[in-house]
Amino acid sequence: MILEGKRILLGVTGGIAIYKVVHLASRLTQGGAQVDVVMTEAATRFVAPMTFQAVTQRAVYVDPWQPIPDGEHARIAHVHLARSADLFIIAPATANTIARLAHGLADDLLSSIALSCAAPWLIAPAMESHMWASPATQANVAILRDRGVTFVGPVAGHLASGAKGVGRMVEPEEIMEAARALLGRNGPLAGRRVVITAGGTREPIDPVRYIGNRSSGKMGVALAQAARDLGADVVLIHGPLQVPVPWGVEARYAETAQAMYEATMAILPETDVLIGAAAVADFRPAEPAADKVKKEEAQELVIRLVRTPDILAEVGRRRRELGRPRVVVGFAAETRDLIAYAQEKLHAKNLDMVVANDISAPDAGFAVDTNRVTILRREREPEPWPLLSKDEVAERVMQEVVVLLRQTEGMDDG
Ligand code: C5P
Repeated sequence: MILEGKRILLGVTGGIAIYKVVHLASRLTQGGAQVDVVMTEAATRFVAPMTFQAVTQRAVYVDPWQPIPDGEHARIAHVHLARSADLFIIAPATANTIARLAHGLADDLLSSIALSCAAPWLIAPAMESHMWASPATQANVAILRDRGVTFVGPVAGHLASGAKGVGRMVEPEEIMEAARALLGRNGPLAGRRVVITAGGTREPIDPVRYIGNRSSGKMGVALAQAARDLGADVVLIHGPLQVPVPWGVEARYAETAQAMYEATMAILPETDVLIGAAAVADFRPAEPAADKVKKEEAQELVIRLVRTPDILAEVGRRRRELGRPRVVVGFAAETRDLIAYAQEKLHAKNLDMVVANDISAPDAGFAVDTNRVTILRREREPEPWPLLSKDEVAERVMQEVVVLLRQTEGMDDG
């Protein structure tokens, strides 16, 4: 996991959304990061430093003159901390702190540290909607954005005053996602475009009904996150999903197999890696009805189905002339003869790798969070992986992709 061993400086300011940031600090710590919390005086009115200390297992800093165990003052110690941080998160960020950061004030420990911190900054604002919308705040946000600072939210919703509006801090999960993306932005896939097809498709019978499948899109979304965390520029071409599109991933909706085919072909010339994780319908109704089919009109209904385009097979064909994508990965979901079918797909569709899963097993396949896969590559024996979460499968698949990409490009250079 990308958070493992990373140093995160978490600046906490005085807003009621702070209770969610305790959870964020805990999640980051559980993910393996070393989290150093610096609070403003106002923040301590909402939550005691002790709370953050307990969840991070580390000292929390508020007062610039607070002596610390090695005898230095916190102000000095934290200059070192700021310099060694991999990421600086400010959450919740009040209008006041955003203003102080935009103008380079150093009137407390947090703002002083900010001036020494060259790591990427991630700000999650939280304030009343009129404060967020004010020209002063918007100008301060623009200054920080121009300097390369990343903002997550705020979003619309219920505010501390009881009113509804834009100003609500995003959920900790979204801050986590953005943090992962920023930590990975110089990773081995930086500057590479990775295109992933995900979810199922819906093939219309009439304007109301469709033929669909049980794909949740979880595997494709996990792959998109893993690719993003390695620095890739990720495009997710997806049908209906049961999970949200992750932060920092460009989503293109394609409801039918034909739409997914067109979206994929359009982006192919700029694609380095293509992963076909979508459960694409193999057949569609030949003539969808223009009006809703009425049951009163017949006792029986026969729908003639015709084949849809095989997206991955076409990608495999075109890559021969285009030289792109450099790497193509497919999935094989089967209920029997898994390895034989997967092996056949590897060659027939001109793929570099197939992730094969036996969807008859209760812990693998559609809509569950785990997967038991076997990896097939050219000129290699099939490699069974243990039962893993879909996130772990995704991370390992992306590590393989990095290796495959190096191999193809190594061959080109030679
Ligand atoms: O041929 P089969 O459907 O078993 O192959 C599965 C793989 O092919 C998956 O990676 C899937 O995303 C892709 N596929 C596709 N277009 C289709 C059917 C499958 O891209 N029409």
